[in-house]
Amino acid sequence: MKWKDVDYTPYTSTNPLDSGEESLRQEDFIQKTSVVVRELSEKLGRVPTACVVTFGCQMNARDSEKLCGILSRVGYMLTEEEEADLVVYNTCTVRDNANQRVYGRLGHLNAMKKVLPSKKIALCGCMVQEVSVIEKIRKSYSFVDLIFGTHNIYKFPELLYMMLTSDKMIVDVWKDTNAIVEDLPVERKYPFKSGVNIMFGCDKFCTYCIVPYVRGRERSRDPREILREVESLAADGVSEVMLLGQNVDSYGKGLSDGISFPGLLREVEKVDGIRRIRFMTSHPRDLSDELIGLMAGSKKICPHLHLPVQSGSSRILKAMNRGYTRESYMELVGRLRATMPELALTTDIIVGFPGETMEDIEETISLVKEVEYDNAFTFIYSPRTGTPAADMPRSMNDEEIKEGFDKLLKAVQETAKKRVARYAGRCEEALIESLNDHDEAMVTGRLGNNLLVHLKGGSELIGSYVNVKLLENKGFYYIGEML
Ligand code: SAH
Ligand code: SF4
Ligand code: F3S
Repeated sequence: MKWKDVDYTPYTSTNPLDSGEESLRQEDFIQKTSVVVRELSEKLGRVPTACVVTFGCQMNARDSEKLCGILSRVGYMLTEEEEADLVVYNTCTVRDNANQRVYGRLGHLNAMKKVLPSKKIALCGCMVQEVSVIEKIRKSYSFVDLIFGTHNIYKFPELLYMMLTSDKMIVDVWKDTNAIVEDLPVERKYPFKSGVNIMFGCDKFCTYCIVPYVRGRERSRDPREILREVESLAADGVSEVMLLGQNVDSYGKGLSDGISFPGLLREVEKVDGIRRIRFMTSHPRDLSDELIGLMAGSKKICPHLHLPVQSGSSRILKAMNRGYTRESYMELVGRLRATMPELALTTDIIVGFPGETMEDIEETISLVKEVEYDNAFTFIYSPRTGTPAADMPRSMNDEEIKEGFDKLLKAVQETAKKRVARYAGRCEEALIESLNDHDEAMVTGRLGNNLLVHLKGGSELIGSYVNVKLLENKGFYYIGEML
């Protein structure tokens, strides 16, 4: 079979394969693709470059690291410049503006491709799980060379090979899968910290959210594989891990081991060399007292919880299918604060959900004031085709929603500044992550509670833990000095 003759149809396959066999098969494609990339390199007279752009959440970013790992294994030089010989857009579709950004930037890539016809463009991630998006790309962005989805990302070596040996647009997107393929190469963005997937997909079906449709059913990863990965990361110099899943508190469902999320955390805690453990995201409905107790007594689990509330109005929470009320959320916050007074709490909030009124937004604002989050991410509701909320009538116009949103943002900023002020003058341990974006004589570190601190220092500090005195509260971050 010649690859040129293959034009995969979307939504035809689910994964029937054995994980071990499949990773060996992809390893084979890594070898084959390396030969093609070497030939390309000879033709160009230089090593071809590849750029992977992440548009979405931490899970999307972790997928990008897997793509980068494969690209470097087959011989590409990674770059952040989109002038590269191969550009991969790892897309997000949680809100429409994420999609619009991709369409806008594809236009620029097309202009570049006209100057450099050998340039290749690949699209993957959540956005392309939508049939309408694939249709639109086929019709209006036919210069795209490869489209693949979230379920078959492990097939990237094979798909790269097909793309490099074909002139056709290759489309391979699956509706769902139940397989988890292990052991693909990974190129980490940071040498000292890493995300670790513990589960994929989501079964919660919040009525506004497209994630369950584009990421599929919830699947927990085998705890032995997770620990093997954490151990090898620790051996490779990683001291901070972030366990990733859309709803980490339901980790373990469907596994035969009977393991729960706290059970997994206890195992990860035992790994030598891991100093900090974070996780994302917790669902207020599933957060257990066992987890609260474990966090309170742990030296490694960071005192930070991202606990999306979405709304402070029980009526809206019901319409969102969140499975808790304002009262039960506040009761949970009360338990958290009683057990861990130092815990930093952050959240996500949506404004403009169908049927929401200014009174509901006022309830959200009052909840924000009551909880006093360390930080909150606020979003204007974006209708997603195929989700139940997309068909619900709305009761506010854009202007009213914007007004409510601005009011909420102000409350978030004020309460966060107040909450964060309590750290002033304290000495805390920070993991130095990078040079400061604006001042090369400064570095940026992260405290256990996730707060950022900027301090004087050079690149030699990156990856190390230093004690910092917190001097100046800038709202969501501090200026500090090293002790
Ligand atoms: N699994 C996580 C969040 C995943 S999406 C959770 O349950 O909290 C990240 C955030 O995007 C959500 O918390 C929500 O606040 C926001 N979001 C999701 N769908 C949205 C939509 N249609 N419009 C606006 N914001 C949305
Ligand atoms: Fe979306 Fe809700 Fe699942 Fe989070 S829990 S990913 S908001 S459906
Ligand atoms: Fe976006 Fe997909 Fe993450 S839709 S938020 S990249 S799971």
